[in-house]
Amino acid sequence: MKTLALGGTDLQVPNVVLGLMRIAEMDDEAIRTLVATGREAGITMVDHADVYGGSLHKCEERFAQAVKLSSSERENTVIQTKCGIVPDGPYFDFSHEHILSSVEGSLKALDTDHIDVLLLHRPDALVEPDEVARAFDELHAAGKVRAFGVSNHTPGQLELLRRSVKQPLVANQLQLSVTHAPIVAQGVAANMQDLDQSISRDSGILDYCRLHDITVQAWSPFQAGFFDGVFLDNPKYPELNAVLDRLAAQYDVPTIAVATAWITRHPANMQVVLGTTNPERVRAAAQGSDLPLTKAEWYELFRAAGYRVP
Ligand SMILES: NC(=O)c1ccc[n+]([C@@H]2O[C@H](COP(=O)([O-])OP(=O)(O)OC[C@H]3O[C@@H](n4cnc5c(N)ncnc54)[C@H](OP(=O)(O)O)[C@@H]3O)[C@@H](O)[C@H]2O)c1
Repeated sequence: MKTLALGGTDLQVPNVVLGLMRIAEMDDEAIRTLVATGREAGITMVDHADVYGGSLHKCEERFAQAVKLSSSERENTVIQTKCGIVPDGPYFDFSHEHILSSVEGSLKALDTDHIDVLLLHRPDALVEPDEVARAFDELHAAGKVRAFGVSNHTPGQLELLRRSVKQPLVANQLQLSVTHAPIVAQGVAANMQDLDQSISRDSGILDYCRLHDITVQAWSPFQAGFFDGVFLDNPKYPELNAVLDRLAAQYDVPTIAVATAWITRHPANMQVVLGTTNPERVRAAAQGSDLPLTKAEWYELFRAAGYRVP
């Protein structure tokens, strides 16, 4: 498993992460097997959020109840979680009070005394950066959170936070798969008048993150679009699956590993946040951690997924 320094800090993390958004209804044994399979493959980082699981802190709690990390396992596990979504609103809340109370809930549910990485889940239009900074300072000083980051943020929103927040923002978790790749695709077709792909939807977030040592974490790495099913073996993507199958045979890996490698091969040194609850798929995807796709193969997948290379 390839590792990287998260956000340029000294925290070494694998470039494949186990996302635990979908574990709420799994039994203890199935959760243990999922997490252990990831660990055996080198996936020592897990991704949570306070809102995952239908009720607050449900997935965090199910993880802790099922896995019961020993102190040495806890030391070797990077636990990331998120705050800032108020699902019953529905709205977003980056207030000092909300951040602190969410973290207290996460610590309790996760049965741990610290969170390794805390992300602000989705941009809050009413954000007051100084309040975020005060919350981060208190959590950091108390040893409750070791590192901070964001998710689904634009360069401008990051700049605004960075003016107030003292700690480095180490990660930006963004939706990215080979079929949902606007953060990559726009730059490939910049300034083309009649091409939708040319429209900037994120103000150049990928380049911004690279310039500022913010690790991009790809969520929904196999979803075709926004939670509408995977592109793998999906008859709507015959050309893409033909290329995936051919490269999988050529490299002697499962197709999901090639789909993973399309992200890990990018020189931005991104992490892939898996969402599968199937241990075999976790093992298979992990094989894409360091698969050396050539530039030609990377572009072939990109074009087969429907993107334009002008
Ligand atoms: N920051 C954010 O805003 C945000 C948003 C969404 C998600 N996330 C994070 O990203 C993680 C991944 O998101 P995701 O679950 O949407 O990503 P995903 O890995 O692209 O999708 C996984 C889902 O696809 C299903 N699936 C069906 N066929 C599959 C196949 N052949 N290979 C792999 N999966 C297949 C899986 O079912 P099985 O379980 O049966 O394999 C699972 O339900 C989440 O766990 C969460 O940690 C973050």
